[in-house]
Amino acid sequence: MNMYRQFTHNIHERRRTRLFGATALLTTTIIVLAQFIAPATATTHAQTSPALATPSYGCTSPSDCLSKMTLAEKEGQMTQVENNAFSQRGNSVTDIKTYFIGSVLSGGGGGPNGTSGGTASQWADMTDNFQNYALQTRLGIPLIYGADAVHGHNNVYGATLFPHDIGMGATHDTALITQAAQVTRDEVLGTGVRWTFAPCICTPQDIRWGRTYEGYSENPTDTAADGSAAIVGFQGPNGALGPTNILATAKHYIGDGHTAWGTGSPYLNEGDAQITEQQMDTIDLPPYQSAVTNKVGSVMISYSSWNGLKDHANQYLITTKLKGTGTDSNGTPNLGFQGFVVSDWQAIDQISSDYNYDVRTAINAGIDMVMVPDNYKTFISTLDTEIKAGNIPTARIDDAVTRILTAKFALGLFTQPYTDRSYTATVGSAAHRAVARQAERESLVLLKNNNVLPLSKTGSYTLVVGGDHADNLGYQLGGWSITWQGGSGTTTVGTTLWQAIQQAGLSSSVKLKFVGTQTKGRYTGDVGIVAVGETPYAEGNGDTNTLALNSSGAAEVTDVCSRVTKCIVLLFSGRPMIINTQLNQSSAFVAAWIGSTEGEGITDVLFGDYGFTGKLTFTWPSAVTQEPCNKNNGCTGALFPYGFGLTPF
Ligand code: GLC
Repeated sequence: MNMYRQFTHNIHERRRTRLFGATALLTTTIIVLAQFIAPATATTHAQTSPALATPSYGCTSPSDCLSKMTLAEKEGQMTQVENNAFSQRGNSVTDIKTYFIGSVLSGGGGGPNGTSGGTASQWADMTDNFQNYALQTRLGIPLIYGADAVHGHNNVYGATLFPHDIGMGATHDTALITQAAQVTRDEVLGTGVRWTFAPCICTPQDIRWGRTYEGYSENPTDTAADGSAAIVGFQGPNGALGPTNILATAKHYIGDGHTAWGTGSPYLNEGDAQITEQQMDTIDLPPYQSAVTNKVGSVMISYSSWNGLKDHANQYLITTKLKGTGTDSNGTPNLGFQGFVVSDWQAIDQISSDYNYDVRTAINAGIDMVMVPDNYKTFISTLDTEIKAGNIPTARIDDAVTRILTAKFALGLFTQPYTDRSYTATVGSAAHRAVARQAERESLVLLKNNNVLPLSKTGSYTLVVGGDHADNLGYQLGGWSITWQGGSGTTTVGTTLWQAIQQAGLSSSVKLKFVGTQTKGRYTGDVGIVAVGETPYAEGNGDTNTLALNSSGAAEVTDVCSRVTKCIVLLFSGRPMIINTQLNQSSAFVAAWIGSTEGEGITDVLFGDYGFTGKLTFTWPSAVTQEPCNKNNGCTGALFPYGFGLTPF
């Protein structure tokens, strides 16, 4: 394994031990180093278009396959392996054949050739190569490849990236959310991936949670509408699926955004939702009711716990409440989910210190496929031992395999298992980017405007532009962008705010001055735009007990706003932050969120080609001590309420 692979592997390893803080720094360092050690095209095992096996299926329907499958073949179908695992620890890609592996995934940053990124055609070669081995098994059952396409096909270099869900929620435009999912679907299809681990239909109740930006809203009604709009975009209406759609995932079931402060790692992530079933039915369940009604094909279980019991071990939640019929003690109908349930990344290992107990408990709870994702031989042998010991009923195994095969047949994998390369050229197309530009526009929320916006394209004035997020695509994109944690600089193809300003067609009478991140400037100007915010993070690395703007960003705002007559602050963040000072320093303030490659969407509105339409889907606190502060818990004294957004033009 070359140095970079080790770094990549270590990043995944760290996910497994889920140590944050120092790890986050180390991981970030690794990512920065890796950008210099191994260019995206570096290969550890050359990936070329493989000579693909001609499909020859040994079964024609889920029941026909099940009747012919050996126990080993069934166990393999329930096993999901991360793409880099086959070239580690004495493993081999031929293990897909040997162990009848049913699914392969890319984790955050899991690109081809053991690196992050990679072009769409490199991804297509990678997924077809894995499929090639699956089709050579005795029954030729195709594998299904999954990836986190959570704001576009965000692992792939050059893909069209959209605002993260917090920004998509602020659009309040479900038709646009469906369209964005359709664009993402086509770019995912172009890489041979047939399953996205999206949408996250969490309903974050405490914005100190590092995954707040993966949620659409604190309001379950918004989340239900937006999540289902995305599912329809990915899968087609009423779960149409087929070879021109991809499988969606409703995640993370259930209560991931409802955990109690201090119960998680480090604070909220993967914590304990200490709530009644009535509270769960009111806040967390409605998006899943809507997702199941819209025939979502898969559900991913949450790392979190419910009143002390890991969701991954909770048979009531999965088998009764999610899959079952009837009603719960509140009279709330169980969901009758017909698709399959997948565990989260190595999540079953967190159930206990006894792996045999973990495996039998998770499968008996109702999990159908296990995202192992590395030690697949150990998982399979343990599963086999537990089945043969009579600790897991055959009926449970057959149910799991039937659910998985039903999805594969519905997707058309038994007719078109390889990448449809006609989609590959659409990745990052102008048409796709136009949709993301519209989403960027509609996601912006105007929080303050003292007669500053819109700016004139033809006036005579000096426009100063600065701040560490003004010309940094990696910062603009945030986490889950090319790498798991996101990065800095030109990490993919996109347009920064500063590049968009330069391309906005301003007349020469508008004098532009870029001041970057300096904080001791010697300049003056009529108008200033200063872009600051959160540096990229994902999952637990984003948990915070301050919500404060970093000191460099605060200094940049102070410097620019002290040197211009009218100061516009743009906040690129994954959630509301404590911005009282900056709000007072500004003449106008825009919540720009994170996630999109299309900076022009911001200038479209700053210069008045379009009006502001975005509305907050999260309550904006005036102090972090107010958290959890949302429309569901009667919080008062917020800086801006849920639903706020100026639309002056
Ligand atoms: C992560 C996340 C989940 C993601 C999975 C695969 O840890 O919790 O949202 O889909 O692993 O990358």
